[in-house]
Amino acid sequence: MKPEQLRSSRWFAPDDLRSFGHRSRMMQLGYAEEEFLERPMIGVMNTWSELNACHGHFPERVKDVKRGIAQAGGFGVEMPSLSVDESFTKPTSMLYRNMLAMEVEEMIRSHPLDGVVLMGGCDKTTPGLVMGAITAGVPMIFLPAGPMLRGHYAGKVLGSGSDAWKYWDERRAGAITDEEWLGIQGGIARSVGTCMTMGTASTMTAITDALGLTLPGASSVPAADSGHQRMSSECGRRIVDMVWEDLTPNKIITDAAVQNAATVAMATGCSTNAVVHLIAIARRAGVDLSLDDLDSLGRTTPLIANIRPSGKDYLMEDFYYAGGLRALMKQLAERLDTSCVTVTGKSMAEGLEGAKVYNDDVIRPLSNPVYQEGSLAVLRGNLCPDGAVIKPAACDPKYHMHEGPALVFDSYPEMKAAIDDEHLDVTPDHVLVLRNAGPLGGPGFPEWGMLPIPKALIKQGHRDMLRISDARMSGTSYGACVLHVCPEAFIGGPLVLLRTGDTIRLDLPNRSLDMLVDDDELQRRKAEWTAPAPKFDRGYGWMFARHVTQADKGCDFDYLEAGFGSAAGEPDI
Ligand code: FES
Ligand code: MG
Repeated sequence: MKPEQLRSSRWFAPDDLRSFGHRSRMMQLGYAEEEFLERPMIGVMNTWSELNACHGHFPERVKDVKRGIAQAGGFGVEMPSLSVDESFTKPTSMLYRNMLAMEVEEMIRSHPLDGVVLMGGCDKTTPGLVMGAITAGVPMIFLPAGPMLRGHYAGKVLGSGSDAWKYWDERRAGAITDEEWLGIQGGIARSVGTCMTMGTASTMTAITDALGLTLPGASSVPAADSGHQRMSSECGRRIVDMVWEDLTPNKIITDAAVQNAATVAMATGCSTNAVVHLIAIARRAGVDLSLDDLDSLGRTTPLIANIRPSGKDYLMEDFYYAGGLRALMKQLAERLDTSCVTVTGKSMAEGLEGAKVYNDDVIRPLSNPVYQEGSLAVLRGNLCPDGAVIKPAACDPKYHMHEGPALVFDSYPEMKAAIDDEHLDVTPDHVLVLRNAGPLGGPGFPEWGMLPIPKALIKQGHRDMLRISDARMSGTSYGACVLHVCPEAFIGGPLVLLRTGDTIRLDLPNRSLDMLVDDDELQRRKAEWTAPAPKFDRGYGWMFARHVTQADKGCDFDYLEAGFGSAAGEPDI
C-alpha cells in the first residue's frame, strides 16, 4: 500500500475545507504535519477502567504500544473502549459484549484509522473487540492482557474462581474460619491480569492466538512479566507493517483458522463460554461454525493442558513456564492447519518454530493426555432441541449417566432461598434446574449455571450433583452442570414445561438429555403457558431483547452478523 492509499489520507490529504478542518484539529492537539500525514494512523483500543481489575496495567501498556507504533513510523492514538469488566458488572457483562463490538466497529468506521491494536482479556472484552474489528475490516492485532500471577495464601496455591467456589462450600460446611476466609480473599487475586485458571479469559485469548490474531504465543505471557511490555511494543511495531501489507482480518480468519481455534480450545479444556463466543466470532467472519462441529472436535481432541479447572494441578503461570500456547500448539500440529497466515504475515508453522515443552506434566504429550476427550459435549433431546453444553472433564463421571427427579426454580432468588434451607427436601439423585436465566430471561445470559449444592447436602459431604439451566457458567466453574439449554425457557423453550418431580435422564455417551414426560402431557402444558412480560421497556436492554440470537447462534445481534443487509459502508464525506 502507498501512503496516498491510506484510509487516513482520505481525511487528511485533500486540499478542501473538510480536510483543512481535520489537519487544523490535529495541530490543535499539538502535532506537526510531518508527525501524522502519510503515516498509518493506529487506534489503540483500550478497554481499561478503574473498575476493571484485570486491565489495571493497560495505561502503562498503551505507552509501550505507542512507542512501538512510533518506532515503525506510524501514528498511535488511544481510543478508550467500553471496559466490560467481569468483576463488578450486574446483571452480567455478557449483556454488554455486543455493545462493545458495536462501539469498536463504529469508532473505527467513523475515524481516520488505518489499523487497530485491540487491548483486552477480561472475559467479554476479547470477543467484543474482535467481533467489532472483524466487521470494520481494517488490519488488527489483539494484545492479550495476560493472566495474573498464581493466587497464594498460607502455603496454598489459589486459582481464580475455582478456589472461591471450593472454599465457599467449605465455609458453608463450617470447615474454615473467618480469618482464613479473609486470607483467601486477599490472596486469590494478587496482581494485575486476567483470571489465571483456564477460565473464559484464558480460553478466549488462547482462541484469539490460535486464530492468528495475536503475536504467536502472546496469550500466555503473564500480565506482570516484563515480557508483556516487550510484547506490547512489538504489537505496535507489527500493526504498522500490517497496514502497509494490507493484511486485513478476512485474510486471517478463514474456515481453517476457525477450525484451528476450536481444536486448540478443546485441547486446553476450554470454558463453556468458548462455544458462544467462537460461534459469534466465526459468524462475523462468514464462517458457519455449529454446535455439532464443536461436539465432534470435543469427542476427538485430547485435553493436554493440565490447567485447572479441567486439569488437576496447574495454573496459567505454570503454563507459560512450561512453554505456553506455542508449545501446546506444536504438540497438536498434526491436527492443525499450520499453513494459516497469522498477524505476523507468516504461517502458523513459522510461528511455532523453536517452540518446546519444558514440563510435560503441564503440557502433556498426545500419548498421555489429561483426558482422552471431553472438554465439551453438546446434548440434544426433548429438553434442549437446539442443544445444550456440558464439560464432561470437569464433572464427576458418576453423573455421565444419570436419572433423577427434577427440582425446578423459576428465578435466581427463588433458587438461592431454597438452597440455603437446611430442611430442603433434596437427595443427591435430584437434578437441580434453574430456568429463565438465558439471553432474554436472565436478562443477558448470566453465569448462574453452577447452581450451589444445597446446604442440606453440603453438610452430608456432597460436593457435586447434576444441575441444568439455560444460563452460562463461569469458565472457572466445575461440576456436573448442563448449560445453555436452547431455546431458553423465557421464550417458551421446552425447559419451561418441566415440573418439579418429573424424571430427567442424562445419557452423556449418547449426548442426550430428556425429561421423561409423554408428548401429550407436554402439549397440554404448552397450551397453558403464557409468555412473560419483556424485561425492558426502553434503552439498550430493549434493543438487546429484540435482536439477540440464542446461544446456538452465538448471541450476537441479528443485524450485526455477516450477510445481514448490505455490506458495511464507510462515510465518504
Ligand atoms: Fe477479569 Fe476473570 S474477572 S478475567
Ligand atoms: Mg469469568
